[in-house]
Amino acid sequence: MRIVRTQVGIVGAGPAGLLLGHLLHLNGIDSVIVENRRREYVIDRVRAGVLEQGTVDLLQAMGVGAGLRRAGLRHDGLYLSFQGQRHRINLAELTGGKAITVYGQNEVVRDLIDARQQTQRPIYFEAGQVSVAALASSAPTVRFQHDGEECEVRCDFIAGCDGFHGICRPSVPDGVLTNYERVYPFGWLGILAEAAPSLDELVYTYHERGFALFSMRSPTLTRLYLQVPPDEPIERWSDDAIWQEMMTRMSTRDGWKPNVGHIVQKSVTPMRSFVAAPMRYERLFLAGDAAHIVPPTGAKGLNLAASDVVVLARGLRAFYDDGDTSFLDSYSDVCLRRVWKAQRFSWWMTSTLHRFPDETAFDHQRQIADLDYLTGSRAAMTSLAEQYVGLPVEVALEDVGLTRHLHSGA
Ligand code: APR
Ligand code: PHB
Repeated sequence: MRIVRTQVGIVGAGPAGLLLGHLLHLNGIDSVIVENRRREYVIDRVRAGVLEQGTVDLLQAMGVGAGLRRAGLRHDGLYLSFQGQRHRINLAELTGGKAITVYGQNEVVRDLIDARQQTQRPIYFEAGQVSVAALASSAPTVRFQHDGEECEVRCDFIAGCDGFHGICRPSVPDGVLTNYERVYPFGWLGILAEAAPSLDELVYTYHERGFALFSMRSPTLTRLYLQVPPDEPIERWSDDAIWQEMMTRMSTRDGWKPNVGHIVQKSVTPMRSFVAAPMRYERLFLAGDAAHIVPPTGAKGLNLAASDVVVLARGLRAFYDDGDTSFLDSYSDVCLRRVWKAQRFSWWMTSTLHRFPDETAFDHQRQIADLDYLTGSRAAMTSLAEQYVGLPVEVALEDVGLTRHLHSGA
């Protein structure tokens, strides 16, 4: 068996694992990243694409912001649309200059994998039979098979960054974690189309036939979503049927509608809210989707992964620099405060904008009134805006050895 020794064993090379690995590297802390998929698979997976201001600042300060500066699309506002009318929410004006940036999660992951490979620190792709053990000892281990060889990583700590379906959370003994969950009675059918975005900001639409979202990836790629039943087989939707439904739900009375183009990717994702608490068991720390899932309506998934790992990096830095364990001890509480606020926001955006199968005529009218209030009240718009651009992270960039970068925008 091959034995590898490191300080932090990281399971999963999604945004959480890769960001943590690089933050630790910048603080002189060694790690080994173990990922069960192929490198290309990890990079090519089409995922969400909205970065909060704080996530943009973090990537810049970590020195992995070149792609983001080149191809990221800064949005100072967004639209809410209902009853055939679009209403703009001016995020920047309502938040003292903050904005969001549209930049595909797969691009973020590609940039971080490139940065990891430049550091020469290990990252194993296509690891088989990944398992974690001895979590309550001072020397926990990550075991896996790689190129036909058995490997064991001996660490001081393990970061479980292996997403919702990973093995870290299920490795915690029964009775330690409490799971909080809500499954929604719908999913999103998402497409990526070779069409120039017909508008330079996102449009969230509430329509009698269900929710729809207009987004984008680049000046030539439009990203669109439709509310559908949760287990909707994608084969049921021809490209023509998708475009027809998109147009029906999204077109506004002023004549605006998305541009049509060749569909290069389509899939259906179920929607759930989930939190496992605490986010720690002894020497195992859960971060990102391994600990919590949000429905995509609030665009918070990637951003929560980023704030978790900043809090974790601060704890590990204090441990290695000063033998101070207090920040590791408060890791779960600090993360969960922000996680629950993002859960609340994502649930609220989802409830406000979707049609529910069991809703009454009263519910429908109330929902229209909600949107009417939201788009007419500066107080309500400010509340949406400050949450959409991202609530503060309790840990400053300086706490993880970073300084705010020259190009941080705003
Ligand atoms: N062993 C090793 N790696 C694993 C295992 C395993 N048993 N199981 C899963 N993984 C890997 C996955 O292949 C994936 O690359 O862990 C990674 C987890 O990445 P994500 O699912 O992207 O989760 P996270 O890094 O927490 O990022 C959260 O991703 O899912 C989106 O919307 C979500 O934007 C949010 C972000
Ligand atoms: C996306 O562009 O994929 C996207 C944007 C906003 C969301 C969810 C997804 O709320």
